[in-house]
Amino acid sequence: MKGLILYDSIGGNTEKVAQRIHDTLKGPINEIDFIKFTPRVDVDFFRYDLIFLGSPVIYWLPTKQMMNYIKNRLRSYNDQGKIRPSSPLIPGKYGICFCTYAGPHIGETEALPMTMWLRSFLGHLGYTVLDQWHIVGQFHDDTDMNIQGRMGNILGRPNSRDLLEVENRTRGVIASLSELMK
Ligand SMILES: Cc1cc2nc3c(=O)[nH]c(=O)nc-3n(C[C@H](O)[C@H](O)[C@H](O)COP(=O)(O)O)c2cc1C
Repeated sequence: MKGLILYDSIGGNTEKVAQRIHDTLKGPINEIDFIKFTPRVDVDFFRYDLIFLGSPVIYWLPTKQMMNYIKNRLRSYNDQGKIRPSSPLIPGKYGICFCTYAGPHIGETEALPMTMWLRSFLGHLGYTVLDQWHIVGQFHDDTDMNIQGRMGNILGRPNSRDLLEVENRTRGVIASLSELMK
């Protein structure tokens, strides 16, 4: 099984989450590409069996540069005839979408469009998306939002407890796919 962790991160929160996913996957999955997004990355998603795709939530969506990149990839796959009507599921291809978010105004609802957006991309390719993970991440420069927002006091998050939860969920994914890894 070949794994990919592709993530964007402006201030480092999402990177911490991605790093914990990577640390947890490293043993059970022997081939993993761990890539911090830049517009210059060259990723062929179809080469991977298990994809973790993540971004910070920026105005309810992924970062603009990641969205543009994914739209271009989709266009290119479409031109190659790889995006088919009904997006038939490809056996053995799985994905997880994850984000960090602050939820200052309407809580976790702010994160849902973001992971749904990424989920739709993987779904178009024919991947089965197992889950969407929303992990709280503080703003880097706005104390009021970090204390008075809908999620309560989120200073210091993602903290060690959040990251342990990410680790445990990643273990759960590995366990759920264990029959395929034999
Ligand atoms: C310009 C900007 C816009 C943001 N928009 C949202 C938002 O709409 N909803 C939300 O929950 N968090 C929002 N956030 C908070 C970030 O998603 C959160 O702090 C995240 O953990 C940052 O991750 P990073 O350190 O990996 O960049 C925004 C942050 C920035 C800087």
